[in-house]
Amino acid sequence: MNPIIETVIVAIWLMLPTYITNASAAFFGGKTPIDSGIFWGKNRLLGEGKTYEGLLKGFSCGFLFGIFQHLFLSEYIEINFGLFPFFLVTLFCLSAGAMLGDVLASFIKRRFGLKRGAPLPLVDQLDFVGGAWLLLFLLARDWFIEAFSLDVIIAVIIITPLLHLFTNYICFKIGKKRVPW
Ligand code: CTP
Ligand code: MG
Repeated sequence: MNPIIETVIVAIWLMLPTYITNASAAFFGGKTPIDSGIFWGKNRLLGEGKTYEGLLKGFSCGFLFGIFQHLFLSEYIEINFGLFPFFLVTLFCLSAGAMLGDVLASFIKRRFGLKRGAPLPLVDQLDFVGGAWLLLFLLARDWFIEAFSLDVIIAVIIITPLLHLFTNYICFKIGKKRVPW
C-alpha cells in the first residue's frame, strides 16, 4: 500500500476513539453546565457549551467504540491499543483526554473574553487531540511513543482539522450545533 495512505489510515484508526468522543459530546449535548454558571471575572468559567451530560456521553461513546474497535476490528490493522488490560488505559486516555482538552480550550477561550461558540482557529480543531496526547504521555507513555511515530503525528495534525470542520458542518446542518465550526 502507498505509505502515505497507510499513515493516514493508522492516524485515523488510532484517533477514532478521540474523534467519536468529541463528535458524540456535540451530537448529544446536555443541560447541566460543568461550571454551574460560575463567572471568573467578566466571563463564565467554562460556559454553557460544556455540560456534564455531553462530557459523560462523549467519553462513554468514544471509550466503548474503542473497545469495539480493539476486540472486533483489530485483525484488519497491524497496530492496536495495547495488551489486556492495558488497552483500557490507552482508550481511557484517548476518550477522557478528548473531553479534558475540550474543557481546557473553553477555559482558555473564556479567559480571552471569547463567548461560547466564538471561533478560535486551530485550538477549536485540535484541543481534543492535545488533551488525548497529554493523557497518553502521562499515563501510557511507552505505547504512545511506539504507536505515534512522527509521520503519524503529522498526519493527525493535518487530517483532524479537516475532519472536524466537515463533521461540524454536518452537525450544524442537522441542527446539532449552533455554529459550523
Ligand atoms: N458539549 C457539551 N458538553 C461538553 C462538550 C460539548 O454539552 N462537555 C456540546 C455543547 O452543546 C456544545 C457542543 O457540544 O455547544 C459543541 O462543543 P464545542 O464546539 O466544544 O462548544 P462551543 O459551543 O463551541 O463552546 P466553546 O466556545 O466553549 O468551544
Ligand atoms: Mg467549539
